[in-house]
Amino acid sequence: MKLFITSDYLEMSRKVANIISAQIIIKPDTVLGLATGTTPIGAYNKLAEWNQKGDLDFSLVKTVNLDEYCDLPADHPQSYRYFMNRQLFHKIDILPANTFLPDGMAKDKAAECRRYDSLIEQISGIDLQLLGLGHNGHVGFNEPDETFHKNTHVVKLTEATILANSRLFANIVDVPKFAMTMGINSIMRARKVILAVSGADKAEILKQALTGSITPLVPASILQFHPDVIVVADEAAGSLLKDFLPQIK
Ligand code: GLP
Repeated sequence: MKLFITSDYLEMSRKVANIISAQIIIKPDTVLGLATGTTPIGAYNKLAEWNQKGDLDFSLVKTVNLDEYCDLPADHPQSYRYFMNRQLFHKIDILPANTFLPDGMAKDKAAECRRYDSLIEQISGIDLQLLGLGHNGHVGFNEPDETFHKNTHVVKLTEATILANSRLFANIVDVPKFAMTMGINSIMRARKVILAVSGADKAEILKQALTGSITPLVPASILQFHPDVIVVADEAAGSLLKDFLPQIK
């Protein structure tokens, strides 16, 4: 595991974008696993800026997102498809047909989960997976539970996640109660993982995830078993890690 602690959110975003950009330059047909939430927005802005300047080419890149709310249409402003289009896909030269998210509107959710796992396999798995971190240690929407869920699955969101995500909805009752998320298998099989974390409110859970017991009660803790994880945390999020893990300057 490599750890970068940056001075602030902007520097964290630039570092994350730099790593993604290096990956695409080395392998132009990279399969990127992408995340939503507020944490990656700064990195997406940087990637879009470099693409528009002509320094980065997304024309052969494929993307698979971690998750999607159940039963929010793609054109709903809080759907993750809408978020990805607005924050990244519509700003870069990626082919829309090469951008994949679970279809939260699918009638047969179990079949959609199977389709998503097969799709990830068909495109040869994920080269670089970007992850954010939920306040309860979730990755994607893999919520704390008694076991790790291997495959893409429907998850009942915890009250804590509904509350955290309600900041983006007009009213907490509008937050969907269910979501579809990539399982731990696809995440752990990604050839490289970046965990991006920002803010003092994530410091304790980040420390638990990276230095505590590996347990499905803190889903991100499974990353301790991954052979190639880069953690990029801003000073506030990384403040409790300094005595535990060596940093890269
Ligand atoms: C959401 C997403 C996660 C994201 C997390 C943290 O629930 N499903 O993929 O990493 O919350 O979000 P934020 O970056 O806004 O703190």
